[in-house]
Parts: sequence; structure tokens; C-alpha cells
Amino acid sequence: MGRRIVVKFGGALITKKDEQCVAHTEIIRNLCSVVKSITEQGIQVIIVHGAGSFGHLKAKRWRLNEGYIPEFEFSDDTCTSQLEAVEHVRKDMLKLNAIVLSELKQVGLNALSHPPHEWASNLGPGFLGNLDRFQSDDVGVVHVSFGDVVDVDEDRQFGILSGDDIVARLSIELPDIESLVFAMGGVDGLLKVPPHVATEKDLIERWSPEVSYQGLHQADIDVTGGIGLKIKRGHLVARNGVSVHLINGEYPTRILDLVCDRPWRGTTILP
Ligand code: IPE
Repeated sequence: MGRRIVVKFGGALITKKDEQCVAHTEIIRNLCSVVKSITEQGIQVIIVHGAGSFGHLKAKRWRLNEGYIPEFEFSDDTCTSQLEAVEHVRKDMLKLNAIVLSELKQVGLNALSHPPHEWASNLGPGFLGNLDRFQSDDVGVVHVSFGDVVDVDEDRQFGILSGDDIVARLSIELPDIESLVFAMGGVDGLLKVPPHVATEKDLIERWSPEVSYQGLHQADIDVTGGIGLKIKRGHLVARNGVSVHLINGEYPTRILDLVCDRPWRGTTILP
């Protein structure tokens, strides 16, 4: 088996976060072209993308992150039950996934999609689902998955499985993963101060639990964990011997620089 990395395309990077179901196609295109360049170095890439405005807005509105709520009342007619809303969000996520797949195919990669609602269940880093489908040592094959609404045991019935949990399991359980990269929108990595007041000097280049950071978690629109979840899962992965990095996905060549051992800008999560 040759070199392999896992890259998470953050939802806030690849979509307009507050405009329902609008993708940043240009950013996705640039990311995919860098993925192609990475594969040309003989490194296989596995991609997991987030949801952004294709997932969080409806999931929040229909409280899908809380699971099935028997007494939940529907106040408009776009949807008559939470189960219907689950189907809406799954469909929207497939639309975003189709955009990512088409950009990967455009650059000549053989992209294979693995929608979590078809193979995964339950939540958190211990979610269930066989990862064998992500195995293959052909660098031209790019496996793609994403944060999704999945089935959950018992009364809860369904819930939101974050792409951050998927990348954690992939990085830890698949053989020979050398790095996990979180490609984020609007920031160069973890910052010492809130993003809107940060300057060049406020980037944390190496993070370990004793270093404090500031990040924006829009709990009002975000149904998963925001930056805090990335750090938690990233740290778990780093403790398992995989190198973990946060990089500004608006400058995707930084990911190429990282894997080619050239200087790059971003944050490394230490074990
Ligand atoms: C969320 O997945 C999935 C849904 C809301 C359906 P992520 O947690 O991976 O998404 P982002 O990166 O925060 O958008």
C-alpha cells in the first residue's frame, strides 16, 4: 500500500452557509484540482465533505439532531413529519455530493461515492458501518463520503452523523493513512483570538490541549459541533499516530505543499 491521506472539505468552505443549498462551485473546483495534483504524487486521497447550507438549516428547523420527537408540531406545509424532513435533507446532501463528484470527474479522477445513510448508523466516533468499502490501493480512485442523516437505534430513530466522525474512523481504522487534513473556510487554521479580529500573527501553528484557542461556533445554525468537534476528533486521530492539520481551503495548494514537505501555512494538532 502506498501513501494515503484523508481530507475533510468543511461545509462552511464549500457552501454559502446562510443561503440554503448554494454551493461554492469555484472553491470545490480548486480543491478537486489540488486533489488531482496530490494523486499525481502517488498519494491516494479519501474525501469527506460537510453539509453547510445543504444540511444544517433544514436539520435545525426540523430538529433532526435531536432524533424523533413524537410531540413535535409542524407549523408549515413544506414538510408534514420529521421523517419527511429526513428524506429532504438526505436528498439535499446527495445534490451537494453530486457537485463534488462531478468536479472530481472533471479533473479525471474516478470518484466513488459512499452516502452514509446507506451503510452507516448511530452517532459519534463509535458509529457503526463497515469501512471496507473505502479500501483500494488505486491512486486514481477517490472515495467520497459526507456528513448525513443516518438511522439511529431505538427511540431516537435518526440523527446527524458529522463528517468529522467519519474522518476520525477512516484515519484511525484504515491502514496506512499518513495525514488527516481539515480544509476550512475563512481561517488559516486555529486562531488565538476570534476570527474577525485576528491578524497574521494570531495563527496557532502547533496546537496541544494546553493551548487556548478561539473559534466561531454558530450554534444557532450548526447542528454538529463546529470547530470544537474538529479539535476533539483531530486530537483523537493524532493520538493514534496520524498527523492532523487544519488548513485554509480557499488556498488549497497549501495541502499540496504539506504532503510534498514544503513550507505551508496552517495548524498541526499535536498528539
Ligand atoms: C453535517 O455534517 C451533516 C448534516 C447537517 C446533514 P458535518 O458536521 O460534517 O458538516 P459541516 O462541515 O459542519 O457543514
